[in-house]
Amino acid sequence: MLWLKAFHIFFVTSWFAGLFYLPRLFVNLAMVPADSHAERERLLLMAGKLYRFMTPLGVLAVVLGLWLWFGGFGFAGGWLHLKTALVVLLIIYHGYCGRLLQVFTRGGNDKSHVWFRFFNELPVLVLLAVIFLAVLKPF
Ligand code: HEM
Repeated sequence: MLWLKAFHIFFVTSWFAGLFYLPRLFVNLAMVPADSHAERERLLLMAGKLYRFMTPLGVLAVVLGLWLWFGGFGFAGGWLHLKTALVVLLIIYHGYCGRLLQVFTRGGNDKSHVWFRFFNELPVLVLLAVIFLAVLKPF
């Protein structure tokens, strides 16, 4: 079980590297002047590669988490239900990042860099809540 949990935390951490950095790339993309095609293409290339890289990491983080839960290790409690609900929010956030990437690729973004700065903070709040739930198991 400890190996499973160690890999769970490894993939969670790797997934979050993408969840933190991809919206940061969106902040930069939203600030690129209209005539800076080379910079826009470079940022889009980085964002595309990052999204393809972070997606399987997220899948593995969730699959190992579900394995920990349903694998007969005796984990139960309200903390796990609320944690899973927050993870569903993360999965929606991840998917929405993919949608935003498509909009940027088509040149159709109408959101400001300020909007993306706030958007960028959401995973931080979820990570804080999930870690407290997973470690403290308050209910
Ligand atoms: C549906 C998805 C997930 C499920 C079902 C799940 C389930 C679990 C379970 C059963 C444990 C073992 C708890 C223990 O050993 O005390 C665990 C550990 C942990 N999980 Fe998840 N997890 C999921 C996703 C995540 C995500 C997305 C994060 C980070 C945001 C996360 C962070 C952690 C941490 C930090 C631990 C270690 C807790 C400790 O050692 O006390 N998990 N998870």
